[in-house]
Amino acid sequence: MLPAILGGKPARKDFIPYGKQCIDDNDIQAVNEVLKSPYLTTGPKVEEFEQKLCELTGAKYAVAISNGTAALHAACHAAGITNGDEVITTPITFAASANCILYCGGVPVFADIDPDTWNIDPKKIKEKITKKTKAIIAVDFTGQAVKIDEIKKICKEYDLVFIEDAAHSIGTKYKGKYVGSLADLTTFSFHPVKTITCGEGGAILTNNEEFYKKIMLFRSHGITRDSSLLTETPFNGYNEQIDLGYNYRMTDFQAALGLSQIKKLSIFSQRRKDIVEKYNAAFSKIPEITIQKEIPESETTRHLYILRIKTNTLKVSRNEVYKALNAENIGLQVHYIPVYFHPYYQKLGYKKGLCPNAETLYEEIITIPLYYSLSDEDVDSIIEAIDKVISYYRKQG
Ligand SMILES: Cc1ncc(COP(=O)(O)O)c(C=O)c1O
Repeated sequence: MLPAILGGKPARKDFIPYGKQCIDDNDIQAVNEVLKSPYLTTGPKVEEFEQKLCELTGAKYAVAISNGTAALHAACHAAGITNGDEVITTPITFAASANCILYCGGVPVFADIDPDTWNIDPKKIKEKITKKTKAIIAVDFTGQAVKIDEIKKICKEYDLVFIEDAAHSIGTKYKGKYVGSLADLTTFSFHPVKTITCGEGGAILTNNEEFYKKIMLFRSHGITRDSSLLTETPFNGYNEQIDLGYNYRMTDFQAALGLSQIKKLSIFSQRRKDIVEKYNAAFSKIPEITIQKEIPESETTRHLYILRIKTNTLKVSRNEVYKALNAENIGLQVHYIPVYFHPYYQKLGYKKGLCPNAETLYEEIITIPLYYSLSDEDVDSIIEAIDKVISYYRKQG
């Protein structure tokens, strides 16, 4: 069959996005109730949501915050990142995982990925450690947990803070335990394409009371009402700013949405797992596609499904395959351009060639739709489109 880009009939009549939230009547009712209540921001729902995140993950403390980027900023602040400190992270991530280091005056240091799992490679982390290294931000890319035990061991040996950017991985378990209480600080994002959403939202989880207290101040201007921290207490409700913070507060209606969504985490997670299984079964039969390898320790709730195209075998570029699949009415993305390829990072002096595995991966990847409300027919039509496009280029080669 001729691909749609060459005038053939598209595999789908209607366009399907690569990611989408699932909002039902219960979610709407939960938000409505807050809108009618006295508290619109940082009221009881925020605390309830934080409590729920602790219950889910086993973490001692959770702080709900305005988004996942703010969560990373707060985590870096809690870890004490300051001018000139080096923090090691992966290049295959959203820019926020490195920007948060810059916000604190630190220096992002990129360590290459494992070419099979696409997560940061602990061996490459070790090679990048210097006297200035203060922390590691490891990203559970696509939802798969990083090699947590190996990274913890490195952090212990070199006295580093382990921040797990779990923006993709709520619902994932590592060695049977939910991510959230395994690193020194774990951050979540509740952006609409994520497994559960607050509209915008994020959270930081930790077992460390000192980190927790720092983050609580950081979230709201560095202002406290805690009488033990005040220099004077002239009246009830008196507050003082004792640190420099931001307005990173989450609203109560976002938290209400999060609370309603988290009730459905296991069904959202199961549907994503089922779709991944179907995709894996179909794509493992296509020799020009490589499937992301999973480590046995990670029981993954996948946020993203990424096709890795063997462009050398197929003799077409990723961009050509991307355009052809788009013409079949399939919504796509590329996750991610290596962070240091961004013009801003290039201007900071980062050179291409730094992380060869990441750079090769970037040339070959396409993210295809994955979310709860994809029907079996949707999944079949996506597989059909991919099969059609790859078969066409195979014949051309
Ligand atoms: C790996 C990663 N970290 C952090 C973030 C930032 O989260 P947010 O968009 O909620 O600020 C994202 C967002 O997509 C992400 O993918």
